[in-house]
Amino acid sequence: MGVKVGIVVREQSGENTLRVLRARSLVDRTLRIKRKNGFLTIPLNREVSTEELKDLNIEGEVVLEEFEEATRRPSLSESLRKILTVEEMSLIPRSYDIIGDVCILQLPEKLQDRRRAIGEAFLKSMKNIRIVLNKTEPLSGEYRVGEYEVLAGEGGTETIYREHGCVFKLDISKVFFTPRLSAERARVASLAKPGEVICDLFAGIGPFSIIIAKKNPGVKVYSCDINPSAYRYLVENIRLNKVEDRVKPYLGDARELSERDLKGIGDRIIMNLPMSSEFYLDVACKTVKDSGGVVHLHVFLEKGVGADEKYASIEESFKDLGCETRLLSSRRIREVAPFKYHWGFDIEVKPKK
Ligand SMILES: C[S@@+](CC[C@H](N)C(=O)[O-])C[C@H]1O[C@@H](n2cnc3c(N)ncnc32)[C@H](O)[C@@H]1O
Repeated sequence: MGVKVGIVVREQSGENTLRVLRARSLVDRTLRIKRKNGFLTIPLNREVSTEELKDLNIEGEVVLEEFEEATRRPSLSESLRKILTVEEMSLIPRSYDIIGDVCILQLPEKLQDRRRAIGEAFLKSMKNIRIVLNKTEPLSGEYRVGEYEVLAGEGGTETIYREHGCVFKLDISKVFFTPRLSAERARVASLAKPGEVICDLFAGIGPFSIIIAKKNPGVKVYSCDINPSAYRYLVENIRLNKVEDRVKPYLGDARELSERDLKGIGDRIIMNLPMSSEFYLDVACKTVKDSGGVVHLHVFLEKGVGADEKYASIEESFKDLGCETRLLSSRRIREVAPFKYHWGFDIEVKPKK
């Protein structure tokens, strides 16, 4: 405890006042703000004159007050340095995923016996994280789901993730999801036009479908996934985001659906199954309208294969399937492993008469 200068303001204006004071580095962050009877007393670094308060548009009274020390959350590197050697520190992955209140690490073999302590360090230092997971097996199988172990925290692996004004409920141990496609989702959503019919063939829990629908009230989206858990979350996320009138979910194989419900209806086809999307080009041809449409094709490019070379083979396959194509754009979306990249091709596809 120590007597320091502070300012008393009404609680309603507290957030605003704090923003203004923090922007000018006037708040003493080592002390705890006091709250009493609808007023806040904010500890300051120095005395502030009445004129200064007037200039800052702050209504408050400068006082001398006893404040308690604020308990500061240790930074991640502080927490890790306490438990790891310098060599172990150098093995900590530079990136990790945060999905809602779940933090996902992928620790190297050499840190296996330190993994619980590392998980606790992440939990202690990261704000708003409830549980820390270690990815033990890469994405695999038709559903593209990985395996995870709990390193620290509790409450299960289901979480709520927010992106571009939408909310997504998901359980990473049962479905595919990555926050690393956020920019690509915003990009595709910005391309959709009113009246368009969009087919999201490998929709997962619905991030592309729902963000597009939310940003474009005039579109109709058909979303399908073969994983029953992903479908269950897709249905729930459609409801949570109030886009039931615009997004129709399907549980099943995109190939079968392209023969029935999705046949010849799409202006825009999303094919985010980079592992094997090229085996579904026939599905794109069947789903696209007779007048043509745009296919957003996701693929992986391994070391030594250029984007031009890849596109040439995609174009050839479309030709064999009886479709004309025109490449609109292409981009490297992210690195998924050393020298392995996730690419996106936007391709105009038109079935030949
Ligand atoms: C890479 S994930 C993409 C999910 C989603 N688009 C996203 O961005 O989060 C691919 C999804 O395709 C689904 N899938 C795989 N084969 C399928 C098929 N033949 N028909 C429909 N969905 C399929 C998987 O279950 C998985 O959820």
